[in-house]
Amino acid sequence: MKKTARAHTNIALIKYWGKADQALKTPLMSSLSMTLDAFYTDTTFEHDSSLTEDTFILNDQKQSVEDSKRVFNYIHLLQEKFGVNDHFTIRSTNHVPTSAGLASSASAFAALATSFVASYGLDLSKKELSRLARLGSGSATRSVYGGFVEWKKGFDDESSYAAPIDENPDLDLSLLAIEVNTKQKKISSTKGMQLAQTSPFYQPWLARNEEEIAEIKQAIQNNDFTRIGELSELSANEMHACNLTAKEPFTYFEPETIKIIKLVEDLRKNGIECYYTIDAGPNVKILCTLRNRKDIISAVQKTLTNVKIVVASFGPGVTLL
Ligand code: DP6
Repeated sequence: MKKTARAHTNIALIKYWGKADQALKTPLMSSLSMTLDAFYTDTTFEHDSSLTEDTFILNDQKQSVEDSKRVFNYIHLLQEKFGVNDHFTIRSTNHVPTSAGLASSASAFAALATSFVASYGLDLSKKELSRLARLGSGSATRSVYGGFVEWKKGFDDESSYAAPIDENPDLDLSLLAIEVNTKQKKISSTKGMQLAQTSPFYQPWLARNEEEIAEIKQAIQNNDFTRIGELSELSANEMHACNLTAKEPFTYFEPETIKIIKLVEDLRKNGIECYYTIDAGPNVKILCTLRNRKDIISAVQKTLTNVKIVVASFGPGVTLL
């Protein structure tokens, strides 16, 4: 059987940055994201008793066994869970207008889990699908849904999954993905979040998690762009502060990252409201309203020459094609 699924990536406004269990990818904190319309992955999963090997084709290129390891291990784990074991072919295409530095593991594992489940005709709820996506990559847990999504940390494999807050928010919110640097990140998220836990600021940050989640949910309910922006920027800065103060300090920031941070601060001083968030890489995402979008884009273009900017807004949850 062969099935194709499409999943959009998401950007965490309240960050996930630490695991309670490495294998189960259960998190130490709850997180909250917005699913994006501009970036998605289409994945076809085919299993057939006549196939003689497992194959992973990414963006039309057959991947080496080494490069397929994470994906193969994930499928073997799911096959074991559901008591099936035939060979398979995975064909995955990332639709990202430019490589704007948006993590594709979220959309990749959400699309893979969904196409796997559909190809075996398994009848799973979205909650169960979210749990399965989590086993591939933590952030994929949230890409099962559209709009604003909360990943409740839970306390074990059963209780850690995402739930939608509002799949079609009526909020004027745009995200500008600014590609400042295309170099491959040196420290993976998996490794980075382990190092960050050695920071003296990590536990105090964790202790604030519930409060931050409750506050942003309230802000979403109030359609309060300012508060959503402030809390998102705070969460990103808390994460990056932990990286900088880890026992082995590190940062994902590049000089261009700082330039954009300063630009956002200057724009705000001049009455152009916008906020930034940054993940496990040097690229910056700016949150803004439609009214200021054009001005912000031209200010970014003046600050960094030849910079790539992708405009995104709310995207949908995972679907079968
Ligand atoms: C900074 O989901 O890529 O984007 O669970 O190890 O696959 P693994 O990590 P991943 O980490 C995402 C980290 C983040 C914040 C977030 O998306 O919440």
